[in-house]
Amino acid sequence: LYTVAQEAAVAFENAKLYGEIEEAKIKLQNWGEELERKVKEKTEELERSQALVLQSEKLAGLGQLAAGVAHEIRNPLGIIATSMYYLNEILPEKRKEVKKHFHIVESEIDRCQVIINNLLEFSRTSDIEVEPVDVNGLLNMTLSLVEKDLFGHDIRLIKKMETVPKIKANLDEMKQVFLNLILNATQAMPKGGELRIITSTHNNKVRIKVSDTGMGISKENLDKVFNPFFTTKEPGEGTGLGLAIVHTIIGRYGGTIRVKSEEEKGTTFTTELSVL
Ligand SMILES: Nc1ncnc2c1ncn2[C@@H]1O[C@H](COP(=O)(O)OP(=O)(O)O)[C@@H](O)[C@H]1O
Ligand SMILES: [Mg+2]
Repeated sequence: LYTVAQEAAVAFENAKLYGEIEEAKIKLQNWGEELERKVKEKTEELERSQALVLQSEKLAGLGQLAAGVAHEIRNPLGIIATSMYYLNEILPEKRKEVKKHFHIVESEIDRCQVIINNLLEFSRTSDIEVEPVDVNGLLNMTLSLVEKDLFGHDIRLIKKMETVPKIKANLDEMKQVFLNLILNATQAMPKGGELRIITSTHNNKVRIKVSDTGMGISKENLDKVFNPFFTTKEPGEGTGLGLAIVHTIIGRYGGTIRVKSEEEKGTTFTTELSVL
């Protein structure tokens, strides 16, 4: 009887041990899965930051090249514009056909000058005054510039602006940032929609969201939108420099800009900039 009891006890112990081992196995497995998930998460995070660094380097290199070319082209273009002006003055008889072509040349020169100015802005690094910028005030001012356009295109404007502290940036540059984001948003809604401008503060950062309910951006294009000269617009309608400039300016002040988009639903650009 004694041995039976002893054997039973051993069996019982074994069963208990077996249960514990099973439990430990499951725990270990869960840990393993958790670890795997965390590693995957961190790897993705790392890949994202690497992509961002690459993007910034690429932009910086292109910026230098673009600035050089823009400088070289600016002067001859100015001379062409002046000559056009004088030609126009001394043309004895201004026939309709001649006049029409003068107009075309002049407006195309204008277009080139806009592109060149954009390029120079894109690569500008010095002589920028940093000042306290009132984000809400600047947004309102920028919106007043495009308001007529909005109504004309059946776009409803929704503003949710919290009182936010001033940020450290350059006023003119920030104007360009907001104008570009707002213009892109309105251009994405040719049949109308909703333009939402939201400001708030998070951890000493001012967050500005510009959302539209427009055509959205396809997955394959999503990581190209900040590239210089990337555009899906018709020639003459877009140069593809807007978001490249936005990206450079925001980066200059240590800020971040993210884009989220769904085709046929809309797009949101979220910018964060440090409080002064
Ligand atoms: N709000 C938006 N909705 C949909 N597409 C957008 C939006 N903003 C930017 N994009 C896409 O990103 C491209 C690049 O924008 P941008 O750099 O401003 O150049 P551009 O407006 O001259 O094309 C646009 O051509 C468009 O395809
Ligand atoms: Mg644009």
